[in-house]
Amino acid sequence: MTNKQVNLAVIGAGAMGQNHIRFIQEEIGSELVAIADAYEGAKNIAEKAGVPFYQDYTKMMEDVKPDGIIIVTPNHLHLPIAREALKRGIPVLVEKPISDDLEDAKKFAKESKAANVPVLVGQHRRYNPFVNAAKQVIDRGELGKLTVASFHYMIYKEDNYFDVEWRRKKGAGPILVNLVHDVDLLRYLIGEVDAVQALSSSSARGFETEDSAVVNVHFKSGALASMTLSDATVSPWNWEATAREDAQYRPFDADAYFIGGTKGSLSLPRLHHFAYNGEPSWHKPLKLVINPVDPQLPHKMQLKHFIQVILKNEEPIVTPDDNVKTLETLMAIKQATETKELVTLS
Ligand SMILES: NC(=O)c1ccc[n+]([C@@H]2O[C@H](COP(=O)([O-])OP(=O)(O)OC[C@H]3O[C@@H](n4cnc5c(N)ncnc54)[C@H](O)[C@@H]3O)[C@@H](O)[C@H]2O)c1
Repeated sequence: MTNKQVNLAVIGAGAMGQNHIRFIQEEIGSELVAIADAYEGAKNIAEKAGVPFYQDYTKMMEDVKPDGIIIVTPNHLHLPIAREALKRGIPVLVEKPISDDLEDAKKFAKESKAANVPVLVGQHRRYNPFVNAAKQVIDRGELGKLTVASFHYMIYKEDNYFDVEWRRKKGAGPILVNLVHDVDLLRYLIGEVDAVQALSSSSARGFETEDSAVVNVHFKSGALASMTLSDATVSPWNWEATAREDAQYRPFDADAYFIGGTKGSLSLPRLHHFAYNGEPSWHKPLKLVINPVDPQLPHKMQLKHFIQVILKNEEPIVTPDDNVKTLETLMAIKQATETKELVTLS
């Protein structure tokens, strides 16, 4: 079954949807068979791609019967669309976060298991080979017991990004819009989160939503992390500038994440691994090891994985249950900025 081409449809042909369309067209294991978008103006994207266009995604599912669907609509529409696909037994790749509604996401996670139809959530950084090399170093115990980590998302979004009204209002801001990726990797690399504290500020831009925040994280393992995020700060210390995943961000040779333990520490994405020869001691010279890794585009790796999920050769590596935990952590961070209190996760 591994060489079969799978027929894929994209629902939502906006900024990210058009990337998915291009990835499908470039991937030999998949064929684009339809595009659905509520906005009639998206029709020309389907015409250019040479596939049928639908404004009604349920009609598309009925007419085209794709082998898999990629859902790239605004977040609040992810689950209603995914439910229609599940009803018809069609596997889905749904963009992150799985939903903007935590309770509905939990409900959907149960429904998808009962339906026994695979659902993959699009946390594409999980496919980054540098992330997976770090995961192996940690899982092999080379850092010892994890103690502390710091994750940074310090970036400057150009001022006209905020000309769109919702980006200035409550419900936007870097915690809900950007931190989902960092929280997903925080959980993937360090473990499950127990409790969070957080403070936010809107003093740089003066909008209703925050432009900057600091977060303290306590993990079930006893490890601790801090996250520093701001979309009004000029700096190279963010994943976008350092990980070379997307050509629209100019690459810079720096790190965004620092993870430490009793035997060593590691920075990402450059994978600078520091340790001592033999027993650790602050009086000994630290040794730096950088193991080479072949870069790959994570979005393309994610599509290859989705194809194998459809062909039943692989299980989804980011399930709805898994993404619920990321969403739960994000919501706890948001709540902590509002209450200024420690928020414990269920
Ligand atoms: N993984 C990543 O790197 C990444 C990057 C950016 C965005 N995203 C995610 O992708 C999703 C879309 O983001 P975007 O920036 O492309 O948004 P966008 O606003 O540019 O595109 C959304 C599209 O969905 C369409 N749409 C709205 N209602 C619809 C409906 N009922 N049926 C069909 N189509 C409908 C809109 O017309 C629009 O074309 C979001 O979930 C976002 O979080 C992921």
